[in-house]
Amino acid sequence: MAGRIPERFIDDLLARVDIVDVIQERVTLKKAGRDWTARCPFHDERSPSFTVSPAKQFYHCFGCGAHGSAIRFLMDYDRLEFPDAIEELAARVGLEVPYEGGRKQAPREDAADLYGVLAEAATFFRTQLARSDTARDYFARRGLDEAILARFNLGYAPDQWDALKSALGTNTARLALLEKAGMLSIGERGGKYDRFRDRVMFPILDRRGRTIAFGGRVLVKDDGGPKYLNSPETPLFHKGRELFGLWQVREAHSKIPRLLVVEGYMDVIALHQYGITQAVATLGTATTSDHAEILFRNAADVYFCFDGDRAGRQAAWRAVESVLPRMRDGRQAWFLFVPDGEDPDSLIRKEGLDGFEARLRDATPLSTFFFAETGRDINLAHLDGKARLAERARPLLAQIPDGAFRDLMHGELERIAGVATATPSAANARPPRPNASPPQRSLVRTAVALLVQRPALALEIEPPWTFATLRQPGVTLLVELIRLCRERPAITTGALLEHMAGREEAAALHKLATMDIVFGDDEGRAEFRGAIAQLDAQTAQQRLDDLLQRQREGALDSVEQDELRGLLKTPHIDAKTAKWKPRARRP
Ligand code: UTP
Ligand code: MN
Repeated sequence: MAGRIPERFIDDLLARVDIVDVIQERVTLKKAGRDWTARCPFHDERSPSFTVSPAKQFYHCFGCGAHGSAIRFLMDYDRLEFPDAIEELAARVGLEVPYEGGRKQAPREDAADLYGVLAEAATFFRTQLARSDTARDYFARRGLDEAILARFNLGYAPDQWDALKSALGTNTARLALLEKAGMLSIGERGGKYDRFRDRVMFPILDRRGRTIAFGGRVLVKDDGGPKYLNSPETPLFHKGRELFGLWQVREAHSKIPRLLVVEGYMDVIALHQYGITQAVATLGTATTSDHAEILFRNAADVYFCFDGDRAGRQAAWRAVESVLPRMRDGRQAWFLFVPDGEDPDSLIRKEGLDGFEARLRDATPLSTFFFAETGRDINLAHLDGKARLAERARPLLAQIPDGAFRDLMHGELERIAGVATATPSAANARPPRPNASPPQRSLVRTAVALLVQRPALALEIEPPWTFATLRQPGVTLLVELIRLCRERPAITTGALLEHMAGREEAAALHKLATMDIVFGDDEGRAEFRGAIAQLDAQTAQQRLDDLLQRQREGALDSVEQDELRGLLKTPHIDAKTAKWKPRARRP
């Protein structure tokens, strides 16, 4: 495992990279005032609500809420993992990524070698396919043409114990790599031999098109061994996180209109060949929540295709469980059940593209499937039945994120079960929290908003900070942010949000960052200082009130008595009321 990447490095990196350049290489941006806009690459829209701010170094979509720094953009748009996004940005500006605690056994170099050996293996299998009549016949019998063989880089592992091993494992180091890449099996006596023998080979690619694993199918059924054999889990391959065919889908679409999830390798390939170039497959596993996230990050509409039998419905239900927590507004899921004895491969060959598209149009919406399954074996004519349904459905519905879909599902449950169900989503109905907005709060809010938008303002105010002891919501956060921004003078809005990502306050901060506060440099500075000065005054008032209270209780010691006297003498205080005189607001 690589060590942690220090936060300071991330800030430096984000200070050097220009988010506008990064995004512009991938999305056409139009200048609009100080910002740049585009049609959002993360959801379908006709008019542009996607904005990139060079000043704040972050992007935001007013339509779907997507937002973040350059790092977040690469993660979402290029579908990179966090460290890979950092590596990519660092490479742009010629920085080397430091890893805290060093890079044990230099895992990055090792990973590069692993990718290398797997790429060589894919090429090897491809060459072997060209040489094997039986393997080519097999694909021909399954109706695959040359173009599709090439698009999926399909190959053949020869019927030998050591074809790959002797071709690629030319020294000890390379043998070790082959083994680590999952390409060798180890016999009882420790002998190593090819894991894949006499199988047609399906390379599994990662989100950047690199080969990370293989699936292999026997040419003849019941030839001993499993029909399909996959690479084991390796440092590069975690099957619960990969989708076969996703790379090819992304190659075929700059914006993926929908995704179709099927069960088998051959299903994906046949669908692509017939023109449904949005098909992917989980690799012999149930749909995991990682899968669900990847699917929805790539497309707002996801169709799950399963067998119509019991096993198929069970698999579909597991998919439901995985997607429910991901069903943010704007996302939709459907279920398509194929007739007995068929699979998508056989169906599309039989019914053609039009036939298959017609089935997709008839697919069952998630909500329908959900209530069909939760209502299974329940007699809704009786009260107990209805109660039972509500009992089953509620905990599941609770997992749906706040929003219209959740409200809809609750409404449906209410309709079917005839009971009021659980809390509606916060967005629509939750009453405002008590003390959500006392007048002072807006002052803290203003200060935080200014700071988030212009982190350098933190340098304006030197410690000690009187207001730090003010008992008001948000003050702790304000102090934390000021400290952070002073510690890292180069920090941008984007970097600051990145730093706070995953925190409870992240969403609120993001909102403040997108607020349209238009001000010049001096104006912003004055505004911020003014807010802080007023907070200081409130803190002094708070202290004064505390001391007066203690005086009434007769609990003042001599030091406190001096402090109280001093406070009452300050020019800002009205000696009669013991109240701070409101400062005249700046014109
Ligand atoms: P199927 O047996 O339904 O696959 O298994 P398929 O694609 O229709 O197979 P053929 O080639 O047309 O006969 C569906 C998926 O389940 C996994 C594979 O990912 C396969 O594509 N599987 C199946 C395995 O991992 N191992 C097996 O032994 C069988
Ligand atoms: Mn099949």
